[in-house]
Amino acid sequence: MRKTFSLAFVVVLSLVLLTACGGSGQTVETSPDNLPDAQAGKTLYENFCLSCHGPAGKGDGPAAASLQPKPSDLSALQQTSEDNYLFSGIAQGKDGTAMTAWKNILSETQIWQIVAYLRTLE
Ligand code: HEC
Repeated sequence: MRKTFSLAFVVVLSLVLLTACGGSGQTVETSPDNLPDAQAGKTLYENFCLSCHGPAGKGDGPAAASLQPKPSDLSALQQTSEDNYLFSGIAQGKDGTAMTAWKNILSETQIWQIVAYLRTLE
């Protein structure tokens, strides 16, 4: 009697744990824009990047018209680029373009937050 009870308890507990783990993994993958990092990155993006790269990252911000080369389409770039590529592109900037090296202005954490936000652009 006692043995049956504890066996049932272990089975139920394992099921609960499995469901809990699977559930949280899915949430993270399906809604990156709910991550706090991406939220902070959005604010930073709007303050520092939107004027050139545009509200949806298409490279069409208000300052873009006068620039040569034009700011990159970040919504397209993020689909083909690794995190590290985006990070160093932002940190180092790009010589011969209007793209500043942001590593002296933003912290590493802030740049990663922006990368997380870029991942939400379509
Ligand atoms: C003054 C305008 C301007 C601002 C502000 C700006 N960018 Fe850029 N960005 C550019 C231009 C111009 C390029 C280069 C496009 C090219 O090389 O064809 C560029 C390129 C990039 C690239 C691609 C780098 C590569 O190696 O291909 C990334 C990523 C990027 N910007 C992200 C950002 C982020 C994030 C911010 C805000 C922190 C930002 N930019 C702010 C103008 C700007």
